[in-house]
Amino acid sequence: MRSDMEDTAHLYTDLAWLWPMWGDASTEYARYCQHVAGLIRQHAKRPASTLLNLGCGGGKNALSLKREFAVTGVDLSPAMLAQAKELNPEGTFVQGDMRTCRLGQVFDAVLMDDAISHMSCRWDFVAALRTAHAHLHPGGVLVATPDVTTETFQQNRTIATSATREGLEVVFVENMYDPDLTDDQYETTILYLIREHGRLRTETEHWTMGIFSLDTWRQVLRETGFEVHEGPYKAGEDEYTVFACVKTG
Ligand SMILES: C[S@@+](CC[C@H](N)C(=O)[O-])C[C@H]1O[C@@H](n2cnc3c(N)ncnc32)[C@H](O)[C@@H]1O
Repeated sequence: MRSDMEDTAHLYTDLAWLWPMWGDASTEYARYCQHVAGLIRQHAKRPASTLLNLGCGGGKNALSLKREFAVTGVDLSPAMLAQAKELNPEGTFVQGDMRTCRLGQVFDAVLMDDAISHMSCRWDFVAALRTAHAHLHPGGVLVATPDVTTETFQQNRTIATSATREGLEVVFVENMYDPDLTDDQYETTILYLIREHGRLRTETEHWTMGIFSLDTWRQVLRETGFEVHEGPYKAGEDEYTVFACVKTG
């Protein structure tokens, strides 16, 4: 199966070198990962020492989670996996598609978060949750955090963030727009203003993402074979629903 992402996601291919500047691994990711680790400890029905991060990207989650778990990451993008490995030399990082990969190994916990929005239709979404289920021991925990749900989506929300490094200034402008509020998709458009030693270069990209209601999440998680718990997680002004799901059986 070929993913749309492989051809179109500059951020994960030719612009992947910008990823370390998008969000700080040692602060915002670390705080969220503490929450994730707490949920795993709270809900696991077995000792939890191994964790699989599906859509591990550049390994910012792994940087915190490795304090408590032996982390394995799966991602489609070789460029992102290379960053994950550099940040976490002790981790295991494998190229794979979260819809189809089967590592032939099971874990005590699985984490899926900001990559799952790339599941742009119900079929892919279900397939990714089945992958999580297939890689868990019974009694293990999947923590899954939707970036957006139909309940939290804000039409035309636009976020601009900037970051600087030696000789480099980058502004990321991210716009979320849903042209059809009745289907399972929305659009993310990103504008990159990249100034290297003051010289401007602009890049853009446009992704089709998946969006589901909280009820759809609950239903698909239950049908996949999970006992579903959920709670809020606040980051700045945003509140996310985090699912902590125990593999039954
Ligand atoms: C926002 S990044 C994740 C960043 C990550 N949380 C971190 O700690 O750096 C989203 C990732 O999802 C990956 N991705 C998208 N579709 C995928 C798929 N079908 N299977 C595996 N990874 C996928 C992309 O390659 C990208 O690295």
